[in-house]
Amino acid sequence: MGVHIKGKNILLGITGSIAAYKAATLIRLLKKADADVQTLMTQDAARFIPPLTLSTLSGKETLIDIFPEGDSGVWTKHISLGLWGNVFVIAPATAQTIAKLAHGFCDSMLTAVALAARCPIMVFPAMDHDMYVHPATQANLDILRSYGYHVITPDHGELASGLIGMGRLPEPEQIVEHIDTFFANDSNNGELTPLNGKRVLITAGPTREALDPIRFISNHSTGTMGYELAAAAQELGASVTLVSGPTHLTPPHGVSCIPVTSAAEMAEHVFQRQHADIIIMAAAVGDYTPAQVAEQKIKKASGTLSIDLKRTTDILAELGKKKRADQLLVGFALETENLVSNATKKLKSKNADWIILNSPNKEGEGFGTATNKVTMIHREGSQIPLPLMSKKEVARLIFEQIGKPVTS
Ligand code: CTP
Repeated sequence: MGVHIKGKNILLGITGSIAAYKAATLIRLLKKADADVQTLMTQDAARFIPPLTLSTLSGKETLIDIFPEGDSGVWTKHISLGLWGNVFVIAPATAQTIAKLAHGFCDSMLTAVALAARCPIMVFPAMDHDMYVHPATQANLDILRSYGYHVITPDHGELASGLIGMGRLPEPEQIVEHIDTFFANDSNNGELTPLNGKRVLITAGPTREALDPIRFISNHSTGTMGYELAAAAQELGASVTLVSGPTHLTPPHGVSCIPVTSAAEMAEHVFQRQHADIIIMAAAVGDYTPAQVAEQKIKKASGTLSIDLKRTTDILAELGKKKRADQLLVGFALETENLVSNATKKLKSKNADWIILNSPNKEGEGFGTATNKVTMIHREGSQIPLPLMSKKEVARLIFEQIGKPVTS
């Protein structure tokens, strides 16, 4: 674990959350991976875990105050530390510290180093669910992302308050994995990460349109392609939201997943997040929904049964109408005939930047398979046929292509 961490200088910031206790294990794991660790903590963090514990594990004095004690110290340490670090990891990051960082406060060694740092900064929020989802915290996290900070979505689970929700600090092993991936991408790409600081919104899976309390209309989508796209975007450093119809899949670690059932619910959650930098509509959204949902189970009778269906909102087309110049909109087209011409029509009519054409005609392609064979079509006309490959690889290549300048 942590091969890319070897030899790195890691600034580790710890703030006043109960999750501060995880810092001890985190330091041990980082030291085991041969990193040099300098811990910085807030006064409040010191109420949860003694600085002496952290100093002993890291082998360096844990710093709290920006001004040194007595007259002997050097008060420009925050500047030299900002230059020393290869990365500044703030875990756990409380709502209070996030607010301070968003607005440039520097009232402790930790916040001053963050302001002075030339290295990338990774923030692991940890707090109670309601504090995390509060618009003030979300707005502050958006500000941090706009500065290029790498914000890692907290885990969902039991919180210190006893409530269940978003806001748990990932386990130290997972934090190490995040840092490792971060350095791996850094060396692969020659820059931090290609999607660092970007907000990526992905939809996945089928939708279900209720006929009555028992039955629904749906399709064969399993969600695999969308979940692989979410995992790839997360690995590339983006802040990822996955709006998912019903599937049996587990959302990738660190991705914020919003489960939905119907096309209308999916539309509602996507439109709430349409400010994202990249939106990929990989979901197989139902085009029709029953005009009336029966309140009671529909009983069988003799003869045929007719059901009136009405159109659902075309989410991608609506997003296309309001697309910003700096936004990337990607759709999928599942076609069984006239593949390229049908897909190109969709690309134009929905005003997407890319359409990913796939077909369920051949084995190994389309719904419910681990592999896919797609052709990427750009709005300027270029076509990139990809060979049959795992959906994981397809996902990575999609991000590689959409990040490149396009040649028609
Ligand atoms: N899509 C959407 N909202 C819908 C239907 C589709 O956002 N109500 C999106 C899909 O997520 C996909 C793209 O539009 O990215 C194309 O979906 P597809 O089912 O292939 O095409 P449709 O537009 O539904 O056209 P048709 O079914 O007539 O082929």
